Amino acid sequence: MVRKKLIAGNWKMNCLQAEGIALAKEVAAKVKAQKFDCDFLICPPFTLLGAIKKCLRGTKIALGAQDVHFAEKGAHTGDISSLMLTDLGCTYTIIGHSERRVDHFESNELINKKAVAAHQAGLNTVICIGETGEERDAGKTIKVCQDEIDGSVPNDATAKNTVIAYEPIWAIGTGKTPTAADVEEVHAAIRKALTKKLGKATANKMRILYGGSVKPSNAAELLSLPDVDGALIGGASLKAEDFINIAINSTK
Ligand code: 13P
Repeated sequence: MVRKKLIAGNWKMNCLQAEGIALAKEVAAKVKAQKFDCDFLICPPFTLLGAIKKCLRGTKIALGAQDVHFAEKGAHTGDISSLMLTDLGCTYTIIGHSERRVDHFESNELINKKAVAAHQAGLNTVICIGETGEERDAGKTIKVCQDEIDGSVPNDATAKNTVIAYEPIWAIGTGKTPTAADVEEVHAAIRKALTKKLGKATANKMRILYGGSVKPSNAAELLSLPDVDGALIGGASLKAEDFINIAINSTK
């Protein structure tokens, strides 16, 4: 099964306007300058979405947010709806990132609800899952991922509207990564869990990204694994050259 790789940048809570615009312009220019056989997505903070959309015009880079509320509109102070995101030109949103699961106590149930609302509004979702270091040491990695797939991925998920990102929490921003064999084992288990939930045809087509300390030097190894269909990149997505070199190295 050939799945087109997705190279996605999660800028997290970084970049003021000038910085973000300069970064997006640099990424856009580099993506335009050569032919890539992968899809691109960048997810800046909410405050920059409108400005960055303009920088991405005429490129194949999709724009995504980092979270969304499940309600269409109304009394939800500080929240952002799917329609507000599509109105700004977003076609994706990340949901269930471990930083939201931990900092904002987001449950699988809430993430599932957000995914349903996003899909209904025509937004694609990148649903994040992954174990803590403690869970890994206790041999619970696969079980945690299966449970998060079961709970967070809605029944309406298709290979078109949903991308899974496996991000071991202990590998995020630490410079540590699992071995390639470990990554492949977990991704294959995730695909099995998706098969059980959504059927073989959908699971075989659905992209499963790896995230956690991806950089140009480890991209080729991690992204050449059979069940790894791209990367969700934090720190290295804040440097245009690193972000592009990850794409170059992963599609060689
Ligand atoms: P780093 O690439 O900085 O480890 O972050 C990964 C991540 O959390 C992307 O969502």
